[in-house]
Amino acid sequence: VRRLAVLTSGGDAPGMNAAIRAVVRTATQQGIEVVGVRRGFSGLHRGELAVLGPRDVANTIQRGGTILLTARSHTWRSPEGRARGAQVLRDWNVDGLIVIGGDGSFHGGHYLQEEHGIPVIGVPGTIDNDLYGTDHTIGYFTAVETALDAVDKLRDTGASHERIFVIEVMGRHAGHIALDVAVAGGAEEVFIPEDAKSVEGVVEIVKASVAKGKASSIIIVAEGYPGGAQGVADAIASGTGLETRVSILGHIQRGGAPVSSDRVLASRLGEAAVYALMDGQKGVMVGRGGGGIMYTPLHETWEKRKDVNRDLYRCAKTLSI
Ligand code: F6P
Repeated sequence: VRRLAVLTSGGDAPGMNAAIRAVVRTATQQGIEVVGVRRGFSGLHRGELAVLGPRDVANTIQRGGTILLTARSHTWRSPEGRARGAQVLRDWNVDGLIVIGGDGSFHGGHYLQEEHGIPVIGVPGTIDNDLYGTDHTIGYFTAVETALDAVDKLRDTGASHERIFVIEVMGRHAGHIALDVAVAGGAEEVFIPEDAKSVEGVVEIVKASVAKGKASSIIIVAEGYPGGAQGVADAIASGTGLETRVSILGHIQRGGAPVSSDRVLASRLGEAAVYALMDGQKGVMVGRGGGGIMYTPLHETWEKRKDVNRDLYRCAKTLSI
């Protein structure tokens, strides 16, 4: 490998910069030149590329967002769009592409490789933690901390007003963020898309909490749970008559300086991605699990479902009495 390209794509995640930095510095150490692609796959087929050296990534490890910018590309979904992108990479004499992103981005990388033979390595960068083949994704730990900080604050006002707070967290179709935040935030109940339990049960839970002397409650709802936080809040308000408020945390969960776990994970996976390309690997995502680096075919990262931690789900219930 003499020259590789790196891009970030899809929703930004804290720690993406640490991953870009690790790619650039590892490659440079190995005598490989790095080209950064701006605005993900959208920028790739428009030819938005520039050489990146180790100094270009200085002072970035602590910064949220992505210095390369990102986008959700529509053009990339067409074979013509991908062909244009592949031609740009060939024009730039790129021998391999490192894609930092989530499953949408990995779809793009997978088809680029299948159709045009350009080796692609994926680095899991999404707050949702929904990729099979890695215990955690870059950005997840920070998103959980950010959401937890908000939950703690909402608890202060909820307790003061003796209200029920129903808080919606991100995660797309997955409940990983919700589950961690519920346990760490001491929530009375958590709703995740992985469990189809009906919303009706929450009325009894809240009534029982009141009977036990709890004047306020925190309920966490993953955005992927049918009806979202509003649906849960409506059920509580009409079933109990208690004062209920909804708080949707939204994109705040994607911002901020990455916590140490995300910086370390990003650094290790960025390094591993370069070594994987050098080893002749292609079409795989580098992940971390079982204490080491794992390689998973890109298509398996979205075809196989990563379940939530069922022990933790049980723990959330046990501790909410
Ligand atoms: O995948 C990351 C994520 O933040 C999800 O949690 C959320 O559902 C989605 O992206 C929001 O996407 P957008 O930023 O395009 O509104």
